[in-house]
Amino acid sequence: MSAGAPSAAARRPLLLLALDGPGWEGDRRLAERLLASPAGAALDGFKLGPALFTAAGPEAARWLAARRALFLDLKLHDIPAVVAEAVRAAAALGARWLTLHAAGGRRMLEAACRARDAAGGRPELLAVTVLTSLEEADLAALGYAGGVEATALRLAALALEAGVDGLVASAHEVPALRRRFGPGPRLAVPGLRAAADRPAGDDQRRVATPAGAAAAGADLLVLGRAVRAAADPVAALAELAAGLESGGAPAGEEGRP
Ligand code: C5P
Repeated sequence: MSAGAPSAAARRPLLLLALDGPGWEGDRRLAERLLASPAGAALDGFKLGPALFTAAGPEAARWLAARRALFLDLKLHDIPAVVAEAVRAAAALGARWLTLHAAGGRRMLEAACRARDAAGGRPELLAVTVLTSLEEADLAALGYAGGVEATALRLAALALEAGVDGLVASAHEVPALRRRFGPGPRLAVPGLRAAADRPAGDDQRRVATPAGAAAAGADLLVLGRAVRAAADPVAALAELAAGLESGGAPAGEEGRP
């Protein structure tokens, strides 16, 4: 971890909106609408993923970084020299956070951390451990032994030892990560929903409200479809932000120790 990282307890959770396309025009209009609304004050940053980055790339990144903190979710996984160059390019774009795969290995992670340090400590590097789309059978096919949780913890330890600033995790993994790695690592959590939005058949362990995830120890809260797909995105953002401010009731026990 980079020197001087504040403890989780000292950090207010930040609220980010994921922009996942399909088109930059639509995402930019949504961002403008939210920023112009009273709820826009609650928005700390934007997450720009591979779909929109491939379509609109640096233009979208610069536009977003000029308005709020930019989370560049490119999930890098390549040879050390290439990833280090990408970290430098992300720093030049003004990214505050950048994701990379822990599975890229120690030398890739260390090269990325050196590039971050040379750029003044930004972007903070957040490691993805096991994608939530992967199941035990997928990991076995990839040759990872021990199942999802053991693999995620092993990859998290590797990435943190190499010097990354934090991890991307689902809300239900946050308590175990905090127990294992303490308050230092920044934990970015996607998959958040308003309590009322949770469909009847939803896996309760895989989603959380922003307040539930924050209570569990998350500090970067990523909102996606909970805002973008809402009939009224401005009202949805206002409701989610208000729930976070009031520490509102979490959606069930998810994200709790
Ligand atoms: O599901 P939702 O639309 O809220 O997802 C928001 C963002 O979180 C997306 O950009 C996606 O990349 C990310 N996400 C993730 N892992 C999940 C679910 C979503 O990284 N399991």
